[in-house]
Amino acid sequence: MLSSTMQLVTLALALAPSLASAALFPKDSQVKMLDAKAFKKAMKVNQTSLVAFVAPWCGHCQRMAPEFSRAALGLYPLVPLYAIDCDDEKNKRLCAEQDVRGFPTVKLFPRGNSIPPMVYDSGERTASAFFYWASRRIPNTVTKLYHVEDIPGWVEKQEKKYRALLLTKDKKVPLLWKVLGNKYMNQIEFASHRDRKGKSSVKLGYEAGEKKQPKVLVYAPGSTKAFRYEGINKLDSLSKFFDSVLDGSVDISVVNEEAKKEEFEPTEEELEIERKQEAQRIALAHGGFADLIDFEEAIKNGGANFHDTHGFGGGMGDIPYKKKPSASGSAADAPETPKTPVVESTPAPATPAPTATPETQEEVKQVVLETTEPSPSPEAAKKGSESATTPSEPAPSTEAEHPKDEL
Ligand SMILES: *[C@@H]1O[C@H](CO)[C@@H](O)[C@H](O)[C@H]1NC(C)=O
Repeated sequence: MLSSTMQLVTLALALAPSLASAALFPKDSQVKMLDAKAFKKAMKVNQTSLVAFVAPWCGHCQRMAPEFSRAALGLYPLVPLYAIDCDDEKNKRLCAEQDVRGFPTVKLFPRGNSIPPMVYDSGERTASAFFYWASRRIPNTVTKLYHVEDIPGWVEKQEKKYRALLLTKDKKVPLLWKVLGNKYMNQIEFASHRDRKGKSSVKLGYEAGEKKQPKVLVYAPGSTKAFRYEGINKLDSLSKFFDSVLDGSVDISVVNEEAKKEEFEPTEEELEIERKQEAQRIALAHGGFADLIDFEEAIKNGGANFHDTHGFGGGMGDIPYKKKPSASGSAADAPETPKTPVVESTPAPATPAPTATPETQEEVKQVVLETTEPSPSPEAAKKGSESATTPSEPAPSTEAEHPKDEL
């Protein structure tokens, strides 16, 4: 009897570290715990991810966890958020390699191993700070074509490659399109053209299309004639499509026939994630996500019945986006800012290291990558990096931060 109790206690003690680390993030969190092996695998995929190096006993990590989880939900599935327990023996070497000197250390990997990581050096560990910081640092490979006349030139310029053009009614390049541009960097040229009322579509020989309906056009190497993808405009479906385009197995008529027959049927789990994302967007509408969603409008139009009338945000319906107010009322026609370069090296302003106990210690490192805006001066660079600490300010309107898995 006693010995079996002892055994139980021993067992409980043996399990304690892993239980504690599992508890750092709630069970239904979109933050995925990785061990060193899984981390190396995740870094082989060409995508932007945010990784928190943590220890279960660290108070700052415990306080950060729910915020990090909310950011993960907001960015799911476009930017995965991971966590690594550096207390775990089998991760210690990785944490040392990653130069983790304090907990939590949060790093952005803009494109797996192929672009050096950036350290999140702000003490502001809120969901919206993480959300904006990560979503703005996806390397931008998407060429913005401002006029319909720019399209033929772009199509001809890269004739030897696959090219993918998005015609969107949105002013911003959807985050999903940027994620795809990053994923297929060097393999497919991505561009986006704003076709607000469908006039460009008509000029190119397509129908004007429904409100908000995007069009995905693909040009095969050597061809200036597009074929059109009419499948589901979500990350999974588009990735499968582009993979099949690249390996040559695509049969566009089959893809489109199947897309017509097939209604998008999310699993119960996907629906649950989308429900939570919706709830979070509404809850956060006043605290950092305010420029992404017109909360009042959503309530006015949909009320409690919002989902029944609009469908879920993951591709089946639309959240009414807030139009940027402008004095003339013609914000939609305002000239857009030219696209930013793919990768830009900006020396970060030196930040004094906080004097800290081991627990509050943070890594302070040079930010070697800035993919948000060209920063002409250290002043501007400073301002840019500070924006992560002031998430309640309106986001710069230059680029996309649609947190949705849809175009
Ligand atoms: C990542 O991108 C490179 C080209 O930059 C490509 O050769 C490689 O196949 C890609 N890897 C994956 C897993 O897509």
